[in-house]
Amino acid sequence: MKKRLTTAFGAPVADNNNSLTAGARGPMMLQDVWYLEKMAHFDREVIPERRMHAKGSGAFGKFTVTHDITKYTKAKIFSEIGKKTEMFARFSTVAGERGAADAERDIRGFALKFYTEEGNWDLVGNNTPVFFLRDPLKFPDLNHAVKRDPKTNMRSAKNNWDFWTSLPEALHQVTITMSDRGIPYSYRHMHGFGSHTFSFINAKNERHWVKFHFVSQQGIKNLTDEEAEILVGKNRESHQQDLFESIEKGDFPKWKMFVQIMSEEDAKHYKFNPFDLTRVWLKKDYPLIEVGEFELNRNPENYFADVEQAAFNPASVVNGIGFSPDKMLQGRLFSYGDAQRYRLGVNHNLIPVNAPKCPTNSYHRDGLMRVDGNAGATIGYEPNSYEEWQEQKEYAEPILDIDGGASRWEMDDDNFTQPRMLFQLMSKEQKQVLFENTARAMGDAPDMIKKRHIDNCTKADPAYGVGVAKALGLSVKS
Ligand code: HEM
Repeated sequence: MKKRLTTAFGAPVADNNNSLTAGARGPMMLQDVWYLEKMAHFDREVIPERRMHAKGSGAFGKFTVTHDITKYTKAKIFSEIGKKTEMFARFSTVAGERGAADAERDIRGFALKFYTEEGNWDLVGNNTPVFFLRDPLKFPDLNHAVKRDPKTNMRSAKNNWDFWTSLPEALHQVTITMSDRGIPYSYRHMHGFGSHTFSFINAKNERHWVKFHFVSQQGIKNLTDEEAEILVGKNRESHQQDLFESIEKGDFPKWKMFVQIMSEEDAKHYKFNPFDLTRVWLKKDYPLIEVGEFELNRNPENYFADVEQAAFNPASVVNGIGFSPDKMLQGRLFSYGDAQRYRLGVNHNLIPVNAPKCPTNSYHRDGLMRVDGNAGATIGYEPNSYEEWQEQKEYAEPILDIDGGASRWEMDDDNFTQPRMLFQLMSKEQKQVLFENTARAMGDAPDMIKKRHIDNCTKADPAYGVGVAKALGLSVKS
């Protein structure tokens, strides 16, 4: 049977090729309502792109528990070995717009949405364990510096490096970004990190601090600047193509999940602030504990419906998983939902890719695109006398002790120990790649900015400073 074309309201469309005109050569008629509907819809097809991480690829899959961590968390997703939970993942580059090439030197987003029986848990991470900043107040500046210049409308090495080098705490993340790992070969060939410190709450209502790690079972594979340049010249969608095609042919990518666990008591005495996002917890102090594995096994049928409309929010945690005092995490708890209310609307939780797979009973009502029946005749307030949807006090988290007075505190200022450790872990060849990548990326930035970077690198390790200076054709002292 023929598949029949209709208007958005279901009426048959008699002609989809010729607009309605007065006479064979005449002007168009306003009563061509099919034309009006079709064009008006087209005019509204573009929604705002994500401010960051605009270019991305997504897929559905499942997470399976392989090891017992119930002594740390009562989260239902981890309740027994073998348990499977449906999920959706979106990977992305950060600075480029929605049409940017995939194989750019940049960090990669690693966002996971687990549809657990007690609500959606979103872990919105990156392929790096640290970040450029330790205070969220700087986040809009970071993005203005790495995105297009307001006058030239071009990306600017000057702006980018002016900002990065003025914040020495960025050096750890800058070193990773300029290293051989700065351009992953594909989304399948990179690790993922929750990056922040989160908390686990167990059945006894005890809290532990936790960091999440995802280890690629495809292994790490990267592109050099030269390889990426050639690739981008031929294929701007190399990551999308790689992920899509490997899933289509049944070669499902997999990542193992690990956690690092720190007690609340330890956190008070650890050698540095464990809530500082510019630092990793050393694995020799807090070894990786295996938890499970996820695989991505289904491509979305429609990119816009599932990938573009996906809304990941670090604020979406579930019973047994909580936040931490990390200021960056705290700052993100506001920003994502706020961005999504603007980008997708106040009812974006009803879009199928975002909708939890368990019942949701909130008293939120109305708003644009309320398409689920709006809770029908259920009363819209609590407390009420009818035992309608009551708060659930048994889910309250243990008290979090806070000390100190309110102020605009600066976190401690050791910006160089961990970049030094990372640099010293690199082989001679990797160091050389780091120097050369840095020099190319700094491009036409003024010498004053290049020298500031050399200075920062020297503070981490004199050999780092010398190497970058040589690659830039400058002297360390000049
Ligand atoms: C996307 C804000 C730091 C990972 C976004 C979006 C905003 C945002 C507004 C777009 C959201 C949307 O429209 O759906 C911030 C702020 C930060 C911050 C204010 C710091 C204060 C981070 C960090 C990470 C991260 C530290 C990783 C550890 C991501 C990812 C996405 C994203 C993966 C894309 C999610 C997706 O695939 O839809 N961020 N971000 N961000 N951010 Fe952040």
